[in-house]
Amino acid sequence: MLDSHNREINYLRVSVTDRCNLHCLYCNPKVGLSEGGRDDILSFEEIHRVIRAAVRLGITKVRLTGGEPLVRRGLADFISSLGEIENLTDISLTTNGILLASMADEIRQAGIKRINISLDSLDKGKYARITGGGDLRAVLDGIDEACRLGFSPIKINNVAIKGFNDDEILDFAGLASERPFQVRFIELMPFTGDGQVETGDYLSNQIVREVIEGRYGLQEIQRQGENNSGPARIFRLNGGMGEIGFISPLSHLFCDSCNRLRLTSDGTLLSCLLYPDGIDLKESLRRGCSDEELTKLLQRAIIVKPMKHQISPNGGRIKKCGRQMYNIGG
Ligand code: 5AD
Repeated sequence: MLDSHNREINYLRVSVTDRCNLHCLYCNPKVGLSEGGRDDILSFEEIHRVIRAAVRLGITKVRLTGGEPLVRRGLADFISSLGEIENLTDISLTTNGILLASMADEIRQAGIKRINISLDSLDKGKYARITGGGDLRAVLDGIDEACRLGFSPIKINNVAIKGFNDDEILDFAGLASERPFQVRFIELMPFTGDGQVETGDYLSNQIVREVIEGRYGLQEIQRQGENNSGPARIFRLNGGMGEIGFISPLSHLFCDSCNRLRLTSDGTLLSCLLYPDGIDLKESLRRGCSDEELTKLLQRAIIVKPMKHQISPNGGRIKKCGRQMYNIGG
C-alpha cells in the first residue's frame, strides 16, 4: 500500500519482546526485565493476526527484533507459523548473538535465512562494558555457527560511538574484508536510557567512511533506497570477501525511501522509528476487533506516516526521541 507521500510500504519490523539478556548503554541500560507483566506484550497469536492483516495490505517482509528475540520462549514455532502466511516472502531476524550458537539451527529450520547480529566491539572488555556484562566469545561463536549453517546474508550491526569504538573502525572493516559479512555502521540515534551514553557521542558515518577509505578501496554497489533495499548504502571492499554498509539516519536523511512500519512488543504500531506517536493495536485486539477494524488501523498508520523524522545532529548534540529502543527493536 502507498502512503501519503507515495512510498510503497511493504516491510514490517516486529519487536517480539522488550526483554533482553544484555544492557547496552545506548539502549537498555538499567532494566533486565520489562517492568510490565507478561500480558503487557502481545501473544504470538496476536502478533500473527497483525502480520496477516499487514500482509493483506501489501507487507511482504517481516523482521523479528526485540529486546532480544531469542529470549522469547516458543520463537522457533512462531517463525514456522509465519512461513504459512501466503505472500509473506521474507522473514528475517535481528539478534545480539548471545544465544545464537545454541539456537541458530532451530531458527534456520524454522525458516530464517537472513540474520543481523549486533556487535559494537571486538575487544572483550569493551564489549562487556557497552553491553553491561555480555560475553564476546558467545557472540563470535554464534556468528561462526550462523556461517557454518549457511545463513546468508549475515549482517553485523555496529553502532559507532565517538570515543568508545571509533578506534575499532578498521578492525570491523577488516572483518568484512576477511569474511563474507556485510558490516554495517549505524549512526547513534537518541534513545539513550539514562544518559550513560551521551547524545554527544554521535559520530557521523562520513568520518567512519573516511577512516575506512584510508586503508581500503570502497566501491559503491548499492545506493541507499535502491530497489526498495532499505536505508543502507552498500560498498564492496576492494579485494575483500564482504561488504560495508552505512546507515546514516542523522547525517543523511533517507526517509523518502522508507518502506516500513514497526510493531512494538506492547502492541503499538509506529509509522516512524523516531516519532513517539503510535496506534494502540493491543487494546483493539483484546476487545475482539474485527479484521476490518484491524485493517483500518493499519491503513491509518500508513496514511499518517510522516514524510521525515525531525531529529538532526546539531553540532554533535541530538534531540532525544520519546520512546525506548528496546521496546521498538530498531
Ligand atoms: N542508535 C543506533 N542504533 C541502535 N540500535 C539500538 N539502539 C540504537 C541507537 N540508539 C541498533 C542495535 C541493533 C539495531 C537493530 O539497532 O545495535 O543492531
